[in-house]
Amino acid sequence: MQPILSLQQVVKRYGPVTALGPVDIEVAKGEFLTLLGPSGCGKTTTLHIIAGLTTPSEGRLVLDGRDITRLAPPYRDMGLVFQNYALFPHRTIAENVGFGLRMRKVAKAEIAERVRRMLDIVGLPGVEARYPHQLSGGQRQRVALARALVIEPSILLLDEPLSNLDALLRKRMRLELRDIQRRLGITTIFVTHDQDEAFEMSDRVVLMNAGHVEQVGSPDELYDAPQTRFAAEFIGEASLIEGAVTRLQGEDVVIAAGGLEVPARPVRPGLAAGDRAILMIRPERIEITPPGAPETTDVTVTRRVFQGDRILLGLSGGSGQVFHCAVPNLEATRTIDAGARIGARFRESRAIPARGA
Ligand SMILES: Nc1ncnc2c1ncn2[C@@H]1O[C@H](COP(=O)(O)OP(=O)(O)OP(=O)(O)O)[C@@H](O)[C@H]1O
Ligand SMILES: [Mg+2]
Repeated sequence: MQPILSLQQVVKRYGPVTALGPVDIEVAKGEFLTLLGPSGCGKTTTLHIIAGLTTPSEGRLVLDGRDITRLAPPYRDMGLVFQNYALFPHRTIAENVGFGLRMRKVAKAEIAERVRRMLDIVGLPGVEARYPHQLSGGQRQRVALARALVIEPSILLLDEPLSNLDALLRKRMRLELRDIQRRLGITTIFVTHDQDEAFEMSDRVVLMNAGHVEQVGSPDELYDAPQTRFAAEFIGEASLIEGAVTRLQGEDVVIAAGGLEVPARPVRPGLAAGDRAILMIRPERIEITPPGAPETTDVTVTRRVFQGDRILLGLSGGSGQVFHCAVPNLEATRTIDAGARIGARFRESRAIPARGA
């Protein structure tokens, strides 16, 4: 990958506390990259370092082959949208969107034309003369986006831009934002702690944990092959049961864990018989059958949780360890309740090497 932007060994310290790093992140031209992670893991700090609003304690930033570590924000050619949009309340939408162009001394007529075009792109034609309070939250969010995009930045930076919107609008804006990004082909770095958002929008996700990069990959890779317990816990739902590898079986290893013996595909090579490993079972990757069916394990239903489109079953192999299985809400599955004995067929389980393995 020929990155347009790279962060190299970037560290941010506040007094004695290291808030971030060292981190290495590479961003490809035109991609939609998401920084994902729990509160306090360093997402905003990373974004602000990229924007030039925060100076790193160590490391460097290279944009298009040029070292920009010490370059002031206005010269970085980046558009930034904050969580709270920060529109100027006493200025019209046209003045808000045209702000960056006025700063750059663009001619009046050209500003008007570019503002008009950008409002078109974000789906708000004709609102130039209105004030922010005369728009809905979602519309204001799009104005903030237009304001960041109108300067034609080489990189667009978005810090939880959808978090003030209600759930429905949020979902719609996700798709719209992604469409606009695709159409303009603009390199985008998006910050969120919401994995659904990250999955739907991103080409690649940088999963962060306590100031460092835990794993980088496409949404599929992160979901299918989390490399650590943290990644497996943070991304999607999964039952994680610690156990040991009993033997190898083709490309799989068989793990004995929680009273079960389950074949699992290692998330990376290197597991051998006797190693400690975490068995990861996604709830949608267990098939249930009548008890005693071939290639199944008999289990007891410990719990039933109604979730509308699906029913979540707690299952136990007898050791007291409970793992979860999601079944579609159908006639055949609706009546399964706590206490029932059923068969479970494990599909595409994963084996994550335990620390020190
Ligand atoms: N100015 C500061 N002084 C001291 N510590 C700071 C400062 N800014 C951030 N931190 C610390 O750095 C860490 C990372 O903060 P950051 O804002 O990057 O987290 P975040 O991932 O954006 O979290 P959230 O999802 O809550 O927005 C946190 O522990 C935070 O307390
Ligand atoms: Mg933040």
